[in-house]
This record gives sequence, C-alpha cells and structure tokens, in this order.
Amino acid sequence: MIKKKLKFGLIGAGFIGRTHAFALQAAGRVFPDLEYFPVAHMLCELTPALAEKAARRLGFEEATDDWRKLVDAVDAIVLATPSQLHREIALYAFASDKHLLCEKPVGLNTQEVEQIRAAAKRSKSCHAVGFTYARAPMVIFAKRMVEEGKLGRLLHFSGRHDEDYLADPSGAFTWRQESKVAGQFGVLGDLGYHILCIGRMLCGEVSRVCGLAETFHSERKDAGGVLRTVENEDYAAFVARFTAGSVGNFESSRVARGSKQNLSFELVGEAGAIRFGAERLNELQFYSAGDDSSSEGFRNILINAAHKPYDSFIPAPGHGLGFNDLKTIEIGQFVSAIAEQRACLPDLDDAYAISRICEAVLQSNAEQRWVTLT
Ligand SMILES: NC(=O)c1ccc[n+]([C@@H]2O[C@H](COP(=O)([O-])OP(=O)(O)OC[C@H]3O[C@@H](n4cnc5c(N)ncnc54)[C@H](O)[C@@H]3O)[C@@H](O)[C@H]2O)c1
Repeated sequence: MIKKKLKFGLIGAGFIGRTHAFALQAAGRVFPDLEYFPVAHMLCELTPALAEKAARRLGFEEATDDWRKLVDAVDAIVLATPSQLHREIALYAFASDKHLLCEKPVGLNTQEVEQIRAAAKRSKSCHAVGFTYARAPMVIFAKRMVEEGKLGRLLHFSGRHDEDYLADPSGAFTWRQESKVAGQFGVLGDLGYHILCIGRMLCGEVSRVCGLAETFHSERKDAGGVLRTVENEDYAAFVARFTAGSVGNFESSRVARGSKQNLSFELVGEAGAIRFGAERLNELQFYSAGDDSSSEGFRNILINAAHKPYDSFIPAPGHGLGFNDLKTIEIGQFVSAIAEQRACLPDLDDAYAISRICEAVLQSNAEQRWVTLT
C-alpha cells in the first residue's frame, strides 16, 4: 500500500534547522510503521540564495524566502527561526489548520506563548515544541521508573543545563543577547527551558520559586565591531517547590567554562535515586535502597531495546544514540500524533507553563522574594 505523504516545510536552516532537516530525511525510514511518510518539501531562509543553497544541501524539493508561501504549500511546519518570528508565523499556520512543531522558547514572552497556544486550540492542528532532551529514551525511562514507584515518594530534584558558548567575554554579540529577537529570557529561554521541561515531567507542576539571575558580561561587540548591551541573563538559578510535594533546585549557565552539553539531573526518592547527564545520553544511573548492603551502589543502565524507540535505530544494546537522533524521534512522534489526531507532548501547554516559571524566576530575582505561581 502506498502511504500518504506528509509535506513538511522547514523555516530557518541554522543550527537546529539543519538537525530538523536530517530528522525529516530519516524519520520515515527509522519508523517504517508511521501512517504518513514525512517528506522534506520546502525550505525557507532569509534570502532566495540562502534558501536555494540550504534546500539543495539538505535535500528539500523546493526553496523560498517567503514563509507565507511555505505555509500555504505544506501540511506541517517546523519553525526553527529565532523567537521574534514565532508568533506571526504560528498564528498564520494555525489559521490555515497547518500542523506546527515550534522550537522553544516559543515567542518573545509568556503573552505570546499564550496567544500561540490559544490559536492552536482554535485550529484542527497538531502542535509540539522542540524540547529535544525530554524525548531522550533514558529520560523517558526515568519517567517510567518514577511512575512504577521504583524511587518511592519523591523528595528532591536537582537539575542543571550548563554550556560555555558565551564563556569568552570577547565572544560576539548575537541575536541571543537581544531581547527583541530572542525574547525576554536569556539562558533561561535557551537552556533553562530544557531542564525545566524534564523537572516537570518527573516531579509535576512547579508551585513556587525563589531565584536569582546574573549577567556577567554586560557588553559585547557584534559582528560589525559595534559595542552592544547584553539584554538578558547569562546565568539563572532557583529553588522550587512542586505541587505534588517534592522540592528542587535548577541552574542554567551559558558561561560555564568546560560544560559543552551539561544537561544533567539527580532525582532522589525515599526508595532510590536516579542520575542522568546528556553528555552520556545513553546511560541512566539507578540506586535502589532495596539492594543488599554488600553490593549496593549506583548501577549504570545502558540503553537497549527496552528503552523505546532505541531499537528502531539499532538492534544491538549500548551502541548509542546522538543529538540528531533525538530530533528524528521528535519528528516521528509528531507525525504519529498528526495521524492519530492526538496531543504530541511536550507541547505548547508545556511551553506556556515553563515560560510562566521562568518569568517568576526573573520576578523573584528583581523583587528579592519567593514568587507563587497561581
Ligand atoms: N531544541 C534545541 O535543542 C534547540 C537548540 C538550538 C536552538 N534552538 C531554538 O531554535 C531556534 C533557532 O535557533 P538556532 O540556534 O538554530 O539559530 P540560528 O541563528 O543558527 O538559525 C536561525 C536561522 O533562521 C533563519 N531566519 C531568520 N529569519 C528568517 C526568516 N524571516 N525566514 C526564514 N529564515 C529565517 C536565519 O537565517 C538562520 O539560518 C531558537 O528558537 C532556539 O532557541 C533549539
């Protein structure tokens, strides 16, 4: 039987757009049981020349510099531009019932996420957000262990996402430091979003936060040598209470020398604990209080066929997935949710909740007090 093709359009072919492009090429082949076959149909970039070049390199059938033309021509869109464009494109896409996978942080601020989310609910479209690491098989396995009670009552979560892409004070000013392009959050919207998504997946909704934020390098030169003011935070940390009773602390930094992809967490429960780090994406450490004292200790669980959908990529255990594979999983889940007309979590509701938490952290820092999320 010939499968229905699902025409995808990619808007923005920068760092993460390229990863989505690889995923669009791979998903239909890695997941042959998908009801629809995803096709990389049209790519949109800033200029016709950029679009043509990227489309050729990444295997798209057509190219354009007009995102409206792309939205009109496809069934589903991957939106991978800076946040400044998310609202306008998302509202246009949902108005014509096109499915949308939007990169985080989704829009410039909580108000924009809310508008985008409301438009999605008015449409017949499926929506998802690029919370890449929340789809990692060992993170999903951690969630399963929590749900199966392997950790007992949850006590505390400690999570961080640190990188060092702005550790050099002479590093160039880019759109990520400009609030009218990146939005109201700096590192919180870039890295904090990912670890918060996982914290909420494992421990539930956050009810209160007490936070601090810091910009260590307040000025940087842009590509043209002009000195620019850095408009958002390099570092943020906060302690939190979860509605279900556990507590947590979160940290994110874009100036953390030596940290390349240090998204990591430890979750401690009464009956056990788990540890995960994205630099070791294919492992999960588990400590069980039930182990015999002569052999107790954290055991290292290596990814295998029990950690779906690992075996769709590789039959042999322990050979490992990488960052690009997580995007292939994301596209596979999105296509499957479109076919089954169901939610594709984490989605815009999660982005909205996370944006509110980040806003509360900045408010807590500004007012030097705990902030309750109502
Ligand atoms: N999920 C993740 O792990 C992850 C990782 C990196 C970035 N992101 C998110 O993805 C988004 C893009 O980040 P990036 O690192 O890829 O940025 P980037 O600067 O590398 O790429 C952005 C691309 O968008 C293009 N673009 C800008 N305006 C456009 C327009 N009007 N039409 C078409 N293309 C346009 C730019 O030319 C550029 O190629 C951001 O929201 C970022 O937070 C997510």
